[in-house]
Amino acid sequence: MNNMETKQQYYTETYRPQFHFSPEANWMNDPNGMVYFEGEYHLFYQYHPNGTTWGPMHWGHAISTDLVHWEHLPIALKPDEHGMIFSGSAVVDWNDTSGFFNGQSGLVAMFTHADTYPGSERPRQRQSIAYSKDNGRTWVTYEGNPVISDESITDFRDPKVFWHKETKKWVMILASGQTVRLYTSKNLKEWEFASEFGDGHGSHEGVWECPDLFELPVDGYSNQKKWVLFLSIGDDPSFEEGSRTQYFIGEFNGETFTNDHKPETTLWIDKGRDNYAGVSWSDIPNEDGRRIYLGWMSNWRYANITPTKEWRSAMTIPRVLTLKTMKEGVRLVQQPVQELQKIREKSIHIMNQTIVPSENIISNVKGNTLEIIVEFEFGTAAEFGLKVCKSNLEETVIGYDVTQQRLFIDRTNSGKSDFNESFVGKHEGELSPYDNNKVKLHLFVDWSSVEAFGNNGELVLTDLIFPDQNSKDLELYAVGGNVKVNTLEIHMLKSIWRK
Ligand code: FRU
Repeated sequence: MNNMETKQQYYTETYRPQFHFSPEANWMNDPNGMVYFEGEYHLFYQYHPNGTTWGPMHWGHAISTDLVHWEHLPIALKPDEHGMIFSGSAVVDWNDTSGFFNGQSGLVAMFTHADTYPGSERPRQRQSIAYSKDNGRTWVTYEGNPVISDESITDFRDPKVFWHKETKKWVMILASGQTVRLYTSKNLKEWEFASEFGDGHGSHEGVWECPDLFELPVDGYSNQKKWVLFLSIGDDPSFEEGSRTQYFIGEFNGETFTNDHKPETTLWIDKGRDNYAGVSWSDIPNEDGRRIYLGWMSNWRYANITPTKEWRSAMTIPRVLTLKTMKEGVRLVQQPVQELQKIREKSIHIMNQTIVPSENIISNVKGNTLEIIVEFEFGTAAEFGLKVCKSNLEETVIGYDVTQQRLFIDRTNSGKSDFNESFVGKHEGELSPYDNNKVKLHLFVDWSSVEAFGNNGELVLTDLIFPDQNSKDLELYAVGGNVKVNTLEIHMLKSIWRK
């Protein structure tokens, strides 16, 4: 891991993501404890170090100074006498409210200890803390663990903690079955129950997991803020989508979250299949920075059986979250972090071209680690878009249906898919044109994923794909007429793992 610059073969296994985070070996799921401290972004993650399927959970650890290149560090937290280490968060305790740091600042992690009730098979989930005085390199679990337990609730997990400036308290939000519970604390050790949210609100098509709660300006106005609540819902076999993440927009007064929408309104953060358990964090102290986010790029429906060998799963690219007023109301917008521009290598720029059926103007361009930004202007075509990771045998289609006003990723013929019958398919979401007749696509294509941002992130689709490594052709296509490409940029992206 330390001589990553020199190893030519490092991270070149079949399907290995080239610019997404994945563990060197073995199983990974949720991102945990995302925090920025003293120039470093910390990424902890649900990790099973002894196998490529889910198993006794540890917190794996990596750091980055630029959100693009990651350095693997030793495991941060291991199962102990209270159980496995499930998902959670980390905060900088700037003013030593916990008393762990002799008046200095340090990192405190909050997570779920998962075991079973003594003498029974019934799962027991309790909240615990650990602290680090050396920038996350080593951790001490608190002797008073667990700090929150409630014997009446079985699914009780994934604490996300943040500092609430107005009430000068720590707030914890955690999932409890089909609701979330909120607690407050002055010192991260003693917690008081504050409120519960969720009964009858949003989607309950699966167990509630991995909540997040944060404030964002609307349309960039800092005097007009809203609170956003993320909530992942687990895989329930009766619904075809598998696991996915919804969000709510509303108000939060330090104790209670109030939903702005009707309870039955359900908003999804991603219309693809492979973005789950994501969490947000800020890169300036006291939650004032950019709101950055990344998710686990998989789906519990098939996460344990995807066709990779040495490791399993990757994270999405980091994205910046904002809120925008659209015709249907205030909505979440996600855009790739700008830092990713530094892995652009060779670039191709095309302007003002008309695309007609059966002529591919980029047939000479090849690649499978790509960033593509394209503005289309409607012509007579009923559908248009791009085909990527293409050969005579396979292709992944990212297309726009003009009549339906829908952006889609079609991975029906994208490569290996026989590991699960629900993998093939077309995933889509609504995307209204701007200026009446334009849509913009921003795509990231890696060796086993596609992320599509429509109209500057108003709609996002994240999908895994498992194409052959030699499927490197690209196509700009139009169906049933023509479409204009006003601007097109294709950037070949460098591996973040090798020099
Ligand atoms: C979500 C989740 C969490 C839990 C963790 C266990 O993917 O089920 O609720 O803490 O994974 O690995």
